[in-house]
Amino acid sequence: MRVLGIETSCDETGVAVYDSRQGLVAHALYSQIRLHAEYGGVVPELASRDHVQKLLPMVQKVVAEAGGPEALDGVAYTAGPGLVGALLVGACLGRSLAFAWGVPALGVHHMEGHLLAPMLEDPKPGFPFIALLVSGGHSLLVEVQGVGRYQTLGESIDDAAGEAFDKVAKLLKLPYPGGPHLAKLAERGKPGRFDLPRPMTDRPGLDMSFSGLKTAVLVLLKSLPDADEQTKADVARAFEDAVVDTLSVKCERALKQTGLRRLVVAGGVGANKRLRARLKAMAESLGGEVFYPRPEFCTDNGAMIAYAGCLRLETGGPKSSPVTARWPLDSLTAP
Ligand code: KG4
Ligand code: ZN
Repeated sequence: MRVLGIETSCDETGVAVYDSRQGLVAHALYSQIRLHAEYGGVVPELASRDHVQKLLPMVQKVVAEAGGPEALDGVAYTAGPGLVGALLVGACLGRSLAFAWGVPALGVHHMEGHLLAPMLEDPKPGFPFIALLVSGGHSLLVEVQGVGRYQTLGESIDDAAGEAFDKVAKLLKLPYPGGPHLAKLAERGKPGRFDLPRPMTDRPGLDMSFSGLKTAVLVLLKSLPDADEQTKADVARAFEDAVVDTLSVKCERALKQTGLRRLVVAGGVGANKRLRARLKAMAESLGGEVFYPRPEFCTDNGAMIAYAGCLRLETGGPKSSPVTARWPLDSLTAP
């Protein structure tokens, strides 16, 4: 089966063709980062308009690279969660093309796309596994028994991990989106100079909280009014270490609690090098393994939507869901 995937839930336009026998056949990604940078965050209306401009030429290019529309068996588009206007662009084009080509259309859950993205790599994780989904909008720990068989074990009760990276980066006057810039600055930071809290690690449970950590950085920076570049790098390092430690404690707890030994990490923050190294060491210390998508497939992309769409269309058939801003992952069912 060969599926065209379209991702337009936020500020990336992603298009890909996945083939169940040949793997990823073609993909293209366009990031709107520069468009939103001067506003310090995503402006939904601008995001939608830019998807309108970029999406169709990208689909034409990717479909041509994959050998034309004749070989396609379906079209998958992100149906949510995300910005409704942005989602509508992908859904309208995806459903129209599917109708014109006489193939089924399928609305894919964005976080299911992230969660299955590590399966685009070789070796791919087998089910069951624990997934840590850490993006700009979500921080979730999920027990995954199979496609559509998800149980959320814990989640952030306030800011998502990526959101905390972005907000702390703003406090450090770094450009948008802050996560990668903060990680780069932290590379030059001295570990251990500042000590920040590891929120909710001292009590049982798998929920997370990052807004207090952001406030702790704000208070710390206020006590350092003349912070030089090295001091800022040290603060960035202290923040990154606190997030990495916290996520590692929670993942270790989830593995021990469920007895599972495979950990899958996905979502934009999964591109963070220190997090990747720490979780690998932690999982290996338990005799387990950790799986990641390549860094470019940690952040939003079309490949994960084409892949999730292909798995679902193969076993379950079409489902043209309307777009939706909110869509709990646990409400999904197996195809
Ligand atoms: O999954 P994603 O592309 O978009 C959402 O669906 O939210 O994740 C974007 C988030 C942003 O908050 C960004 O700052 C963060 O992932 N991010 C990082 C890194 N690369 C991206 N955070 C920390 N370290 C990184 N290297
Ligand atoms: Zn995402």
